[in-house]
Amino acid sequence: MTISPPSFAFVSDLARRETAMLYDPGKEYLVEARLLPLAREAGCADVDGYVARLRTDPVEQAKALDALTINETSWFRDNAPYQAFTEVMLPAMVAARSHVRHLSIWSAACSSGQEAYSLAMLLDQHLPAGWTAQILATDVSTTMLARVDAGRYSQVEMNRGLPATSLVKYFSRAGSEWEISEDLKRMVRTQQLNLSAPFPLLPTFDIVFLRNVLIYFDLETKRDILRRMRQVVAPDGFLLLGSSETTLDLEDDWNREAHGRTQLHRPATTTLQPIALTGA
Ligand SMILES: C[S@@+](CC[C@H](N)C(=O)[O-])C[C@H]1O[C@@H](n2cnc3c(N)ncnc32)[C@H](O)[C@@H]1O
Repeated sequence: MTISPPSFAFVSDLARRETAMLYDPGKEYLVEARLLPLAREAGCADVDGYVARLRTDPVEQAKALDALTINETSWFRDNAPYQAFTEVMLPAMVAARSHVRHLSIWSAACSSGQEAYSLAMLLDQHLPAGWTAQILATDVSTTMLARVDAGRYSQVEMNRGLPATSLVKYFSRAGSEWEISEDLKRMVRTQQLNLSAPFPLLPTFDIVFLRNVLIYFDLETKRDILRRMRQVVAPDGFLLLGSSETTLDLEDDWNREAHGRTQLHRPATTTLQPIALTGA
């Protein structure tokens, strides 16, 4: 039994309205696969029956939206951005923040936390002695945030990009899973945050990883998020997008600097127009 067109239209409208995620026609199979376990759990005969319930049940809507998120991630994903982090961003920020000896980093759309913890490992290895760092890990999915807090990963997840030396150094066995060290957990703080809604009060960040999430949004949402990002990235800070994402043609407020295959985005400095003095 496949999801009916009206049910699909309701779910894709809901996703777009609440999280800006696009589920265009052709994604019926995906929506059905994600909602079927929830339909079974709720005792509904099929996904259409479950969508009928969704129409009037906000608690179930939140569960469905969470289940619809695409959480693909891995340790040190694409490698090059993490190399740029160690070789360019970190040295630049350490030079610029010597008066406070603290760095503030945001992993926006963190999924199950591999991005935030990969950064935490690099900070542990490369931050000068006496410095501290805080990584804010946010996502719209509370299920994902609970996973970040738990810091536990299956063997299959561990096999995706984690160097053996880091496994030995930062993880211990927890039953059939691996759990990240308390030291790294302390560096990472989680918060639910919907990128498509106005940001809550946030600190200024030295480095923001906003990777592999803009791809799910339409052009206007991407523009809006990049515009708001401009307010929270420090004037001398860095923004990193996914390898298939760019600010090109979206926002003029960012300068792009290439480091190997990685594009680093930095807030464009505002040029103040000279004030014309009129004669007294
Ligand atoms: C493909 S994962 C990317 C994870 C990580 N940044 C990486 O590059 O490996 C996309 C994440 O974006 C989150 N997401 C989707 N829509 C969102 C929104 N409106 N606000 C915040 N996070 C969102 C999903 O829950 C998911 O965990």
